[in-house]
Amino acid sequence: MAASTQSTLNLRQSPPISAKEFTELRQFIYDLSGIDIPERRKYLLENRLGPRLLELGLRTYGEYTMLLRRGPKKDEELKFFFSKITTNETSFFRDLKQLDVFEKHVLQDVLAERGKLDDKNLHIWSAGCSSGEEPYTLGIMLHEALRMSIIGWKARITANDLSPDMIAKAREGLYGDHALRTTPKDIVNRYFLKETGGYRIHPKVKKLVSLGLINLNDKLAMKRVPRSHIIFCRNVIIYFDDAMKQKVIAGFYDNLLPGGYLVLGHSETIHKHSLAFKPLIKPGGIVYRKEA
Ligand SMILES: C[S@@+](CC[C@H](N)C(=O)[O-])C[C@H]1O[C@@H](n2cnc3c(N)ncnc32)[C@H](O)[C@@H]1O
Repeated sequence: MAASTQSTLNLRQSPPISAKEFTELRQFIYDLSGIDIPERRKYLLENRLGPRLLELGLRTYGEYTMLLRRGPKKDEELKFFFSKITTNETSFFRDLKQLDVFEKHVLQDVLAERGKLDDKNLHIWSAGCSSGEEPYTLGIMLHEALRMSIIGWKARITANDLSPDMIAKAREGLYGDHALRTTPKDIVNRYFLKETGGYRIHPKVKKLVSLGLINLNDKLAMKRVPRSHIIFCRNVIIYFDDAMKQKVIAGFYDNLLPGGYLVLGHSETIHKHSLAFKPLIKPGGIVYRKEA
């Protein structure tokens, strides 16, 4: 049977989520991750979790929430659950205009500042890195900016996500054409190794990136991330409500070193959630700076 027919069948057989079950599961997800699933996206839970209910032989979403809360294998199930409920859309060199602003006004500034201080430590945090395309893009941009002199730098990119599947994919570092659709050809030639299964990120980029699971709703885990000169958190806070946005942005503020930069997705702003950052408005995008 074709895979699509099979999944349609599964959807037909899996139970609908009741209003009460949706409210309970929505709250559970919010309490754990800060992700707020609005009523109009209820279908997402049914589409993504319905087949799992069938697989586990459960009759209702209430039973599934109970299993997530108190089941004997709840930790394992939670990993699966996070991989299912997160939206992981990403690509290499996503939003070229914004990356141009980043390169000219953030990266160059930070590198020049570090150079003046004769301090070649550099830390970038990619928070909500999905399958690795964003931190590896930053690694490539660092190589492009520093060229041979990168050897003298202690540059690290910490990259985290809530989804174990995405972190596993990032660790694998193998990508298809779709992930590279906006990446300049010469960059693909110089920073990827062509294999039968796709394009593998070059080890010289991979070694700059430390991958790991982090829940941005976990204050202690946020505090353990080394202090950063630059934080990228693009297309992540759109999934949070105002209270969670505020909490995460405060965490980023604390993590950033004085004069550090915060880069959000092009449709995301922080003016409602924090007045502590100075916005730098450029054609192509806004970046936020912590006072020096
Ligand atoms: C749409 S992707 C964005 C990926 C990348 N930053 C980009 O812009 O291409 C959003 C990512 O945020 C992650 N995410 C959502 N909530 C999170 C949380 N509470 N903690 C850590 N990561 C989270 C998701 O798992 C997902 O991979």
